[in-house]
Amino acid sequence: MILVLDFGGQYNQLIARRVRENHVYCEVHPHTLSLDKIREMAPKGIILTGGPNSVYKEDSASCSPELFELGIPVMGICYGSQLMSHLLGGKVATAPTSEYGKTEVTIAEQGSKLFQGVDEKTICWMSHTDYIAEAPADFVVTASTPVCPVAAMENAAKKLYATQFHPEVMHTVQGKTMLKNFVYEVCGCAGEWKMDSFVKRTVEELKAKIGKGRALCALSGGVDSSVAAVLLSKAIGKQLTCVFVDHGLLRKDEGDQVEAVFGPNGSYDVNFIRVNAKDRFYAKLAGVTEPEQKRKIIGEEFIRVFEEEAKKIGAVDYLVQGTIYPDVIESGLGKSAVIKSHHNVGGLPDFVDFKEIVEPLRLLFKDEVRAAGRELGIPEYLVNRQPFPGPGLGIRIIGEVTEEKVKIVQEADAIYREEVAKAGADKNLGQYFAALTNMRSVGVMGDGRTYDYAIALRAVMTSDFMTAESAQLPWEVLQKTTTRIVNEVKGVNRVMYDCTGKPPATIEFE
Ligand code: XMP
Repeated sequence: MILVLDFGGQYNQLIARRVRENHVYCEVHPHTLSLDKIREMAPKGIILTGGPNSVYKEDSASCSPELFELGIPVMGICYGSQLMSHLLGGKVATAPTSEYGKTEVTIAEQGSKLFQGVDEKTICWMSHTDYIAEAPADFVVTASTPVCPVAAMENAAKKLYATQFHPEVMHTVQGKTMLKNFVYEVCGCAGEWKMDSFVKRTVEELKAKIGKGRALCALSGGVDSSVAAVLLSKAIGKQLTCVFVDHGLLRKDEGDQVEAVFGPNGSYDVNFIRVNAKDRFYAKLAGVTEPEQKRKIIGEEFIRVFEEEAKKIGAVDYLVQGTIYPDVIESGLGKSAVIKSHHNVGGLPDFVDFKEIVEPLRLLFKDEVRAAGRELGIPEYLVNRQPFPGPGLGIRIIGEVTEEKVKIVQEADAIYREEVAKAGADKNLGQYFAALTNMRSVGVMGDGRTYDYAIALRAVMTSDFMTAESAQLPWEVLQKTTTRIVNEVKGVNRVMYDCTGKPPATIEFE
């Protein structure tokens, strides 16, 4: 087993997930886990994660220096590397030049076990303002960049390794090799662990937990809540009621599509209720422009609708949600900084009228959710559906949400998706959609002046949704989409393409 000690970084669960991909069992625990407990767990290796603090500040997250004396291999990543250096006599300081994003790193020690099979010059993902100015005396510097003298260091005899960059992030081109080297070559893991069927285990756990209780599932028709609903339906059958709230912020025709799949004429044996609540959502959102406030309003209204439905159904013990891991971290429920309060996590009001919330996918990443969906026999077109945020078009309309704007973005988005799919340009895209900017500009149509909205098109490539690159869509596709949008969607006279990656942008506009 590999133990990941969490110091509050954004990518912590990703580390665990990379280890799991090597068929090695892995658990993430808070950095405060006691040494006794660690000894008892007897991990084959320990990974210290990144984190937002500076190691030399007094109240920063730390660990006991004895951790490095247990005889267990330790790998420190980013903050973890700085902490290792700081606690073992090296020097950590504010870097004269911060590094963010893809950075060429030079591997100085080809003999390092960590860098077996890694090129001498390799692209790694950096994200730091502090750096290791001097490695501890008994460490060898194994990699550097022009502005980061200690991009990696090790004490091979003590099996202590550290990287300033993030090997877990996909933009570190050979990061998977480095982590594989750590778990196999340094820690000596056998790689025999197979994730038992997540589905089987979870269905059993849900059965035991819910017993004869009744559950209400917040079904959106997206991949996550669909997989959660089918998992629950396998566990407790008709004790489950799926409530689908049509908040009027869905993609074009989506409400009817969801009803076709899960409703009475659909493929699943569940109680299905559709609530058409668009008017009350629009009323609550009237005049509101601040993104976080919009999210909170939509999230809260969502829960209120559920409570009302639950009351109509009678006693309901559990509320099921399709929350997945990136939602949890980005909402700052761990110790990482809050980027956005994803509506199905951070936006929950304090008081929720259910005994408990059940989130069976809470520790999975999107592609793992899809794998679970396939195992559950959910049709491919549903399993492969691109993710859609809980607050829906509410966060794809910059500024105030109105029924008119919803209609504009729905039409533009439908055209865009149709054209991209028709051209077969959707194969490597993680997400692609149209958003309505809050910008109006002058145009000319026929012989007349127009003063209309600008639509922004976005398409990103990502596998984990934590980082993303803007996709280079074929120009013909963008051109065709643009022509159709300005011709067919009333109120739009300009179309723009968003070339920004994440970071520094996020995938959604709000
Ligand atoms: P961002 O915009 O944070 O998006 O880069 C990352 C992924 O999360 C989705 N997303 C949300 N999902 N509630 C959700 O359920 C939300 O409030 C929310 N905000 C963003 C987004 O679509 C992308 O897949």
